[in-house]
Amino acid sequence: MCRSRTKTFSCHVSSSEGGNLFKLVLGAIIFCSFSSCNSDANNSAQATKNNNPTFVDIAPIIFENCTPCHRKGQSGPIEFMTYEDIFKNKNKIKFVTQTKYMPPWPADADYTHFVGERALTKEEIELIKLWVENGAPKGDESKIPAAPEFYAGSSFRKPDTVIKFKVPVPIKGNGTDHFYIVKLPIELDKDTFVRYFEFVPNHRQLAHHINGHLINYEKSKKKDVQSGLSYALDEFRDYKDLYSQMNILNDDGTFPVLTPNTVYYLPGYTPPVYPSGIGGYQLNKTSSILLKNIHYGPSNKDVLDSSYINVFYGQKPKRPIYETQMGTFGISKIEPELILLPNKIQAFHTQAKINNDISLLSVNPHMHLLGKSFWAFAIQPNGDTVPLIRIKKWDFKWQYYYLYEHPVILKAGSTIYAYGTFDNTDKNPFNPNHPPKIVTQGEGVKSMQTTEEMFQFIFSYLPYQVGDEKLDMSK
Ligand code: HEC
Repeated sequence: MCRSRTKTFSCHVSSSEGGNLFKLVLGAIIFCSFSSCNSDANNSAQATKNNNPTFVDIAPIIFENCTPCHRKGQSGPIEFMTYEDIFKNKNKIKFVTQTKYMPPWPADADYTHFVGERALTKEEIELIKLWVENGAPKGDESKIPAAPEFYAGSSFRKPDTVIKFKVPVPIKGNGTDHFYIVKLPIELDKDTFVRYFEFVPNHRQLAHHINGHLINYEKSKKKDVQSGLSYALDEFRDYKDLYSQMNILNDDGTFPVLTPNTVYYLPGYTPPVYPSGIGGYQLNKTSSILLKNIHYGPSNKDVLDSSYINVFYGQKPKRPIYETQMGTFGISKIEPELILLPNKIQAFHTQAKINNDISLLSVNPHMHLLGKSFWAFAIQPNGDTVPLIRIKKWDFKWQYYYLYEHPVILKAGSTIYAYGTFDNTDKNPFNPNHPPKIVTQGEGVKSMQTTEEMFQFIFSYLPYQVGDEKLDMSK
């Protein structure tokens, strides 16, 4: 399978079967999972230069690394806007930074770097500790930087347009997963280009996975995008009937042009923002977003969902981005088959060969609650190893689309390897089954249930062009 973000559909990547390397690397990953590969784990930081830190020194660290999430409307449960907010929570802050629980950044920053990396340096962690242990003094008030300013409804800035659910969707608190579909019609004065969409769930703790497509209607083919059902709950399975009830099809009954995977969400996710002109979408005057797979995890309380999509305009896309997934539902087989036996820690791998030179832009490892560690790298045809991403401690809550600082160039003939370990023992605090039971990928849409497993490595890329290695992805 090779998903493209545009209509041009071409595969630059194919699967390939395992070789001897498998055993070698498997040995390495098991070693890494059981003993500590973290050479700096016990290195207490060297004496920090500043022995009497005050809030003047601490505020910039918190404002930059914590406040973007710890503010109104974002995922962090407490706010860190003022000295008082931060003072009140100082012991917690010391604890979560010492344990590296916060800021959440599962990728190993000693292995590969990404845009927007959220990791404190050893010196910053020690400075926070010292400050808290000294009673968290305020210091010279005139030197304390102002709290950063944010736009409340977005992780970015004020969006150019917001697309809202026409009616809130009722979700039953019956303790099961829910899958539903929502149509969001868009009517604009003129055709527009979009740089990225940001899905903002209004029940972050339930939103498990959202995947939406963009439908651009040709002028003559659709009179009215508004009418029809605006959402459909789990029970619906006859898509043809459903699409006509939702008034998705063209007026003559044919299927409209659809750009898959334009809107996306996973726990902890913010959309990757590619350099202007790379990727992006056209919006016709009459368009619709079809959120085809909204997956909410189980809840015990009835809720109304009125999530929304922020739209950020951009320039005309010059280079389309391609996306491929390995593993579950992907182009490459998982070896051995993903069957997680109770009370076992097991390792799996998948690999795919690159057929053309590509510029790798971003990666997204995906597993569910039994995930323990994840590792991906590539081997170039000349034998060089290219590190891609390593997650020593998988965290279901934080599944980013990691954007490389510069595209990673993989030559035709390279192979990408992904390794995952899964912990199906009682010691895994996220194991939904006590006692543990056998867990598999399940069938079709069901394999997306939180309690079933997936092992996926998703990556986005451009066909290589000279100079791509120098592209600054943070711009
Ligand atoms: C990407 C968003 C994000 C960033 C960045 C972030 N946090 Fe958090 N934080 C959260 C979320 C979400 C939770 C609640 C879920 C959890 O505990 O995992 C949380 C929980 C916490 C808690 C526990 C709160 C409680 O009372 O249970 C503390 C303390 C905390 N964060 C401190 C920090 C500090 C300090 C930083 C910066 C060094 C930071 N966070 C950066 C999102 C974030």
